[in-house]
Amino acid sequence: MNDHVYPVPADWAERAKINKERYAELYRESLSNPDAFWRREAQRLDWQKPFTKVSESSFDEATFGISWFSDGQLNVSANCIDRHLAERGDQPAIIWEPDSPPEMGGGEGRIITYAQLHEAVCRLANGLKSLGIRKGDRVTIYLPMIPEAAISMLACARIGAIHSVVFGGFSPDSIANRVQDCDSRLIITADEGLRGGKVVPLKANVDEALKLLHGPTVEKVVVVTRTGAGVWMEEGRDLSYEELVAAQSPDCPADVLNAEDPLFILYTSGSTGKPKGVLHTMGGYLTWASMTHEYVFDYRPGEIFWCAADVGWVTGHSYVVYGSLANGATTLMYEGVPNFPDFSRFWQIIDKYQVQIFYAAPTALRALMREGDDWVTKTSRASLRLLGSVGEPINPEAWEWYHRVVGEGRCPIVDTWWQTETGAAMITPMPGATDLKPGSASFPMFGVEPQLVDGDGHVLEGATEGNLVLTRSWPGQMRTVWGDHRRFFETYFTTYRGKYFTGDGCRRDADGYYWITGRVDDVINVSGHRMGTAEVESALVAHAKVAEAAVVGYPHDLKGQGIYAYVTLNANDVPSEALRRDLVQWVRKEIGPIATPDVIQFAPGLPKTRSGKIMRRILRKIAENDVSSLGDTSTLADPSVVADLVANRAGAS
Ligand code: WT7
Repeated sequence: MNDHVYPVPADWAERAKINKERYAELYRESLSNPDAFWRREAQRLDWQKPFTKVSESSFDEATFGISWFSDGQLNVSANCIDRHLAERGDQPAIIWEPDSPPEMGGGEGRIITYAQLHEAVCRLANGLKSLGIRKGDRVTIYLPMIPEAAISMLACARIGAIHSVVFGGFSPDSIANRVQDCDSRLIITADEGLRGGKVVPLKANVDEALKLLHGPTVEKVVVVTRTGAGVWMEEGRDLSYEELVAAQSPDCPADVLNAEDPLFILYTSGSTGKPKGVLHTMGGYLTWASMTHEYVFDYRPGEIFWCAADVGWVTGHSYVVYGSLANGATTLMYEGVPNFPDFSRFWQIIDKYQVQIFYAAPTALRALMREGDDWVTKTSRASLRLLGSVGEPINPEAWEWYHRVVGEGRCPIVDTWWQTETGAAMITPMPGATDLKPGSASFPMFGVEPQLVDGDGHVLEGATEGNLVLTRSWPGQMRTVWGDHRRFFETYFTTYRGKYFTGDGCRRDADGYYWITGRVDDVINVSGHRMGTAEVESALVAHAKVAEAAVVGYPHDLKGQGIYAYVTLNANDVPSEALRRDLVQWVRKEIGPIATPDVIQFAPGLPKTRSGKIMRRILRKIAENDVSSLGDTSTLADPSVVADLVANRAGAS
């Protein structure tokens, strides 16, 4: 463990909005007088009708429910655009950098001012209305990282349609499941996407997905032209985005919406079953996204902020789009990947646009770190003043490299812990207030009360390690699982009664710093993306030759965790290299490339208890190559399977 502490730099302590004293004072107030604290913080938004109620939230079964600012009314899109027009209409709202740089034919980037964003969002909102989309209707957005993704989200928000963004790397099957689950009436996609020089057949994937749907849910598919490839357009169903918006008025009054009206659904993996539709609402979510964006990044209006996440994930929702734009930021959207055309791409983009704040996932940093420092040091990066990390634990080695090489020792790093469910950052340093410890997410955000509990729910005090729970609601908390409120309650509030269970393990050191140790449930974190082991298992068993499968995570140098699959074949099928490759391709096709198994071990039998439950603990140990501590295997129905698994352990690193 690395015990180096990086104190708050003097100029930060002096100039940052939140210094040590302010943090302590506001944190205390946020817990002791939440009503006053949130009444004030929510004033960062423009309310069409002021709220009188703050929070009516309860984690107890009898009174269960989450609600914030419930009698207030506001429009999220007006908060992200219209209210900035007078002061910063000509300021860039979105800077877009294409996949390929200009010298490789990628063309120049696009700069969209707040005034232009207003027009684009209004036109599309009118277009959606012309297609019959009304408040409460669901719209699936399956787009690459292009400005139209943000425009589509904001156009939905403007009229109260609920967007569901599906990451462009997901397969037709995954799209179909998500469209079906929330009965989307309309899909916005593009002809093709470009990532790392490769073409992603987005429209073809949508066509495929629509064939898989049961019953008529999708009426229209709106297709953005990205590459200009001639794609199939189904008569009466598919229409051109450009033609749709050209025909509309550039003005669309912002609807008056309720604070608790749904803003978006975002599907995320859990430990069981199919992905859950996490639902966020208008007022609380935007308050939380805006507040954390301002304090965590010490954001000052007009600065250029780059969150490198895709809008298909919650990080992109909260920090590429909503938090940034609510705060009048210039948000940078990059279509591509960190290593194309070469390993300097991130740093060149920072120089090109003079980015001040850069926020990325450890997995990308680790991949760049191993290519050597020259790719970084040949760029200037003089504009940078703050760095951020998100999505998975950052190992101290990567932290140090990020700090020393990328930030030249001058930029604090905010390691922000949060989840799709939490809406925005929950445990995180604030650069003017927190002495940094590499690898620690440090302290709770205002209004967040973490606790560590043991398996029985006993609260652990002082320096300790346990399961991370949150004892009280915060404005950006998810409100329900789409279509399954019972599942919401059972997933998060029954493991430890009356508390929100995060699914993460966590250590608290003697200075009170929190160190997230990773998931304690059957969720694995692959390159900062969450994957349910159950999802990969069900994809594997859907293959004709597979009888049974068990999937676990194991430590992976670049990805954080890799996917290790134990596969039992049907009686008449035999293991082979060809079949192994076939299974890998199969999972990629079923779910998407992010679910690619790193290791497949053919296993004649899996370790099961006499009641038939697979003992994952043992499988995890074998995958981690920690076979000396397999623990008690005597309760297994057939203890001999373990010896076989160990002997035939596949070559995971
Ligand atoms: C899970 C949530 C944060 C939004 C993007 C991911 C892990 C996230 C950190 C961090 C250690 C982290 C947790 C969490 N995680 N950030 N800074 N340090 N772990 O959202 O897909 O909902 O995944 O990501 O395990 O539970 P998500």
